[in-house]
Amino acid sequence: MPLVVTHRVADVAAVKTPLLIIPVAKGALPPSLAALDRISEGALGRCWAAGDFTGVKDETALLYPGGNGPERVLLVGIGDADQASAATLRRAAAIGGKKARSLGAPAAAVAYLRDVAPRVPTGRAAQSLAEGVPFGAWHFPDLKRPPESPKPAFERCELIIDAADAEFGAGVTRGNAIGAGQALTRGLQVLPSNTCTPEFVAARAREIAARHGFTVTVLDRAAIAKAGMRALLAVAQGSALEPRFVILEYRGSTAAPVVLVGKGVTFDTGGISIKPAQSMEDMKFDMSGAAAVLGTFEALGALKPNQHVIGLIPLCENMPSGTAYKPGDVVGSHLGKTIEVVNTDAEGRLILADALSWARQYTPAAVIDCATLTGAIVVGLGHTASGLMGTDQALVRAVLAAGEAADERVWELPLWDDYRELIKSDIADMKNSGGRAAGSITAGWFLKEFAEGYPWAHVDIAGTAYADRETPTQVKGPTGVMVRLFAEFLLART
Ligand code: BES
Ligand code: MN
Ligand code: ZN
Repeated sequence: MPLVVTHRVADVAAVKTPLLIIPVAKGALPPSLAALDRISEGALGRCWAAGDFTGVKDETALLYPGGNGPERVLLVGIGDADQASAATLRRAAAIGGKKARSLGAPAAAVAYLRDVAPRVPTGRAAQSLAEGVPFGAWHFPDLKRPPESPKPAFERCELIIDAADAEFGAGVTRGNAIGAGQALTRGLQVLPSNTCTPEFVAARAREIAARHGFTVTVLDRAAIAKAGMRALLAVAQGSALEPRFVILEYRGSTAAPVVLVGKGVTFDTGGISIKPAQSMEDMKFDMSGAAAVLGTFEALGALKPNQHVIGLIPLCENMPSGTAYKPGDVVGSHLGKTIEVVNTDAEGRLILADALSWARQYTPAAVIDCATLTGAIVVGLGHTASGLMGTDQALVRAVLAAGEAADERVWELPLWDDYRELIKSDIADMKNSGGRAAGSITAGWFLKEFAEGYPWAHVDIAGTAYADRETPTQVKGPTGVMVRLFAEFLLART
């Protein structure tokens, strides 16, 4: 059951809850907590007096105030009040959500104190808090045997505001929609490839479409072949599993659509150019772009913006076998251009090439693809930002702005003509790898060759799709990155 966030007008001192999460700025005990301090017989004041809590970023203190109010209080530091942004509040809420889950609290509340982040509009604050709590609480126990004395599941969270505010309620609704989309994405990302096959992802797309009334089409191998998606077929030919190509459509307007494309390699062994064994298990996350597109559609179903959105998801496995494509093979593509495969591990760009070419038929207003595309982007930007490239500066700016609003940071890399040299082939129109130099940019250039006739942007999420260790806001594993960015991008267009 996804965690549902509600909101209610109340005095924080009067909230009966197993856990009251309070984001607090740096400085003295805020006046808005005076009543809570009183009913807890000065527990909050003593915490400040002892110097145990000062409100710096990510600092926490857990108190047991006694009395008739909250059973526990979790103070979460957010740093300077006048620097606090929506992202600051989202982060504090995530830290709180993570704690609520690990404590085994069945329910929690979050106090929204106006003096804590005065620069953030109330609607934005509500949205961020409603996104943050389930983000932090997310975990994946499904494949473990249940413990003998299981902790209660964290199922309900209410945001507490001091006075009625319509903006606040609207923000909670947006946050719930986006949070549910992101949870769906993470739930798909985390699944191992023996469960999460191309057909499994396609079935999930059908299920989402049925629930929200979207149009969905799934092409099987025969239909993919008929459509001429030779690059997708080449990658898929080494696997015992059939590829799929998913087309989702949300028609909230009759305008030219925004097309979202997600890389759906359900497992990437590298193929004949096989990857080393070290961390190869992480390559179950190579469908994170696909999962992000599905999570965005889940959010669209609840947000219902007046937008026209199409999702394209090429799905396959990249395996070495007797039928696998091989280094040196030249393959065709949906667009007709020929590709020399110099490295079978550069498979994502091949399947995306066919999806980008397929997108032309919609005469889209914009096409954005996202993909766990290159190890080079992890070298360049680490796990802090996704890489952005594109052919249209207005679109690139809009993606940057959406990333800022979502706190899913993206950083632009150049697609200068000079880099095209690196993927020149002696015998085909291009080769699928330009080697180590500028590895993320040459991958982007390869995609650009197929993104003909529309504004296009590409987001490389290889460094941001999953966390390889626990962080203050999440467990180790999938991040659901791009769901918030896509949602902000689409909401900003309405
Ligand atoms: N799926 C990988 C990229 C990747 C690397 C994702 C690390 C997540 C974490 C992609 O298919 C790949 O193998 N890329 C190659 C390209 C190279 C062969 C040109 C890479 O980055 O090494
Ligand atoms: Mn690969
Ligand atoms: Zn890959």
